[in-house]
Amino acid sequence: MSENRPAAVIILAAGEGTRMKSKTPKVLHPIGGRSLVGHAMHAARGTHPAHLAVVVRHRRELVAPHVTETDPDALIADQDEIKGTGRAVECGLEVLPADLTGTVLVTYGDVPLLTTQTLQALTRAHEEAGNAVTVITSILDNPHGYGRVVRDTDGQVQRIVEQKDALAARETGGQDAAALDIQEINSGIYAFDAQVLRESLAQVGTDNAQGEKYLTDVLGLARDAGRAVRAHVVEDRWQSEGVNDRVQLATLGRILNERNVERWQRAGVTVVDPATTWIDADVTIGQDTVIRPGTQLLGATTIGESAVIGPDTTLTSVQVGDGASVVRTQAELAVIGPEATVGPFSYLRPGTELGAKGKIGGFVETKNAVIEDGAKVPHLTYAGDATIREGANIGAGTIFANYDGVNKHHTTIGRHSFVGSNSVLVAPVNVADGAYVGAGSAVTSDVEPGQIAVSRARQRNIDGWVARKRPGTGTADAAAAAGASGPAPTEPSDATAHDQDQAGTRHTATEPEGGQA
Ligand code: UD1
Ligand code: CA
Repeated sequence: MSENRPAAVIILAAGEGTRMKSKTPKVLHPIGGRSLVGHAMHAARGTHPAHLAVVVRHRRELVAPHVTETDPDALIADQDEIKGTGRAVECGLEVLPADLTGTVLVTYGDVPLLTTQTLQALTRAHEEAGNAVTVITSILDNPHGYGRVVRDTDGQVQRIVEQKDALAARETGGQDAAALDIQEINSGIYAFDAQVLRESLAQVGTDNAQGEKYLTDVLGLARDAGRAVRAHVVEDRWQSEGVNDRVQLATLGRILNERNVERWQRAGVTVVDPATTWIDADVTIGQDTVIRPGTQLLGATTIGESAVIGPDTTLTSVQVGDGASVVRTQAELAVIGPEATVGPFSYLRPGTELGAKGKIGGFVETKNAVIEDGAKVPHLTYAGDATIREGANIGAGTIFANYDGVNKHHTTIGRHSFVGSNSVLVAPVNVADGAYVGAGSAVTSDVEPGQIAVSRARQRNIDGWVARKRPGTGTADAAAAAGASGPAPTEPSDATAHDQDQAGTRHTATEPEGGQA
């Protein structure tokens, strides 16, 4: 492979993309988790060129920083006000060494499905045949809009005729009108001999229907000079398909996704419903993992082996361990440990780290929460800015009150500690290892090892209240049938109300303060 490393790749990304009707430059629109130009750069970088240059102009202030962020080694070339693909390449050459020799590839920033393999095959075909120019072409049923490839009798490429020039020729009876019947189109992706490219571009003018400096004119000039110009036909037409509007953006996004899904299926991942499964380009998935319908695996998400993801789950840059189960969940920038279980209906916000065999259950929201190995947050909880140590159990409806309206504060729940249901932990607060919090407590001060904290109001039971206040109701009848005492003659005093001990002594010995297992 290395013998066919190109000297340079030039990616053209200076065009406006008006048909997108967008405030965002066309090449920055994403599919499959990468910008269009990001895909082009990724494919180009895979050929290990000595130089990679991206030509920019439209919305340079947005495109250039994005290019540099994507690939810090990429060179930015600025196109001036002279228009056309030929001028764009000329500007690209200006940021490369003036004495550059060897193969220069030219691709577009809006052609996202082109692969490294195709660029390598192009380079190999070009160099093995000793061509001056090799152009990737396709045979299309509907070649409308594309430059047409005019072949010589010996099969070499004689020149390329742009659609607009062929149409103009039809008006004036010129010979280029015949090109309208040609179905072989110019993809716009080429391999050039660097010297031929430089010298030919210097001769290209702007005398055409669009008044632009055409890169395609280089092919005719090279051929006229007796150099070899050949086509490299690529059957997979999606590889050279560009995005011009949002319909094409969605179409190419779907095709890219089909390819990503198939790649993982072939690597041993079960994807139950490819049509509703979206897998970004940079995602990785381990063997024997099952992806159920309605799942989106986005960004830098990595899934281990034998995990079960979905249905209806969106993971953005989430790391999931082997054997974990993540059901009906939305998560971002989170870590889910091996054999952990998440969902259904869980919302894991950035900074959530769930340990091995840990649990985040139904209707639980977490943020900046480290939930260690075997710890459980099973139901209806908000855990923000929390450390929940190994083996701890958080009861249903617990709220980690982390925000005082100005600042965020942290809460720690110690090892094997137990927080009863419907408690509020008012941060900053620490519950030590081996401690309890009684159900319904508002915890504002630290709890030491072995203690239980209980901070709810005492319970009062008032004898005869139902008979007195709800006479004639079904409740009163049921109370009487169950042997309740009759109506008390007066309002009960404190003496007739039965107070309960705060720690709940009237509770039975099984007391886990309402925490859920
Ligand atoms: C070009 C080809 C045509 C080919 C088609 C394939 C020429 C003259 N024509 O036509 O034969 O069939 O691509 O899609 O080359 N760009 C710049 N600077 C410019 C002009 C364009 O960077 O001044 C970039 C655009 O951003 C785009 C690419 O070059 O990524 C192609 O430009 P576009 O205007 O779409 O070329 P076409 O007219 O479609
Ligand atoms: Ca185009």
